[in-house]
Amino acid sequence: MSILNLKPLQPFAAEASGIDLREPLTPARVKAVEDAMDVHAVLVFRNQPLTQDQQIAFAKALGPLDLGLRKLKGGPHRFKYAELADISNVKADGEVADREHAKIVGNVANQLWHSDSSFQKPRAKYSMLSAVTVPGFGGETEFADLRLAYDALPQWRKDQVANLQARHYALHSRFLLGDTNYSEEQRASIPPALWPLVQADPRSGRKILFVGIHACEVEGMTVAEGRMLLADLLEHATQREFVYRHHWQVGDLVMWDNTATVHRGRWFDFTERRELRRATTEEVPA
Ligand SMILES: [Fe+2]
Repeated sequence: MSILNLKPLQPFAAEASGIDLREPLTPARVKAVEDAMDVHAVLVFRNQPLTQDQQIAFAKALGPLDLGLRKLKGGPHRFKYAELADISNVKADGEVADREHAKIVGNVANQLWHSDSSFQKPRAKYSMLSAVTVPGFGGETEFADLRLAYDALPQWRKDQVANLQARHYALHSRFLLGDTNYSEEQRASIPPALWPLVQADPRSGRKILFVGIHACEVEGMTVAEGRMLLADLLEHATQREFVYRHHWQVGDLVMWDNTATVHRGRWFDFTERRELRRATTEEVPA
């Protein structure tokens, strides 16, 4: 019998059970999780509330931890570990943030299709998001499979993008939302990262159309033409048949492969509390 029970969730994700995430992840369990991620790219574990220590231990077993935007923004943090990202509309003092609070623009930016930390090298590999408090309505997370997206491209598009590289910049999505109050030092602190638009997963060999909102320019193209191409590709990649929508329950742990998927949060009432806690591993080049 396999270590993980997997129930496919269409079109690509799976609900996983059979291991207790609070227990140390043995090498056999690490392999079971990685093998399942190669196939499904998103795994949903229900009823597995984790403490901060347990979440960090689970993530560390899967790779070195990523700091994401905290490298750039710093500031007060309500978790024990800087490596735990506070995906919430709650301030460091525990109160729900006012709509004008800087925290809320981060919540809005999360509603644009993106791959976590694609703006840096190394980029994020697995994100592991634990649901602590969920709103009464909305706030789902959607995932789109960039392997399915590549496979479905017409041949002329595959030929067009085969050797192109996109520039991913950490603040591009913030600028789009009018959030421009960053010093020159902050703007320069995470230089853009170049990624091929078409990549082969080193583990599964599957081709991936690596797009998302952090991609803002295409090497060798004018800004306008590159941005239009990226918008077209992202629209293609996120059509409904490639999307799994996750309806959160408290205690869910959802993990995804940032190198093979994009995701976005969905609308919720920002006066309602929504608290998710994320640990993220860095990609280790093969
Ligand atoms: Fe994200």
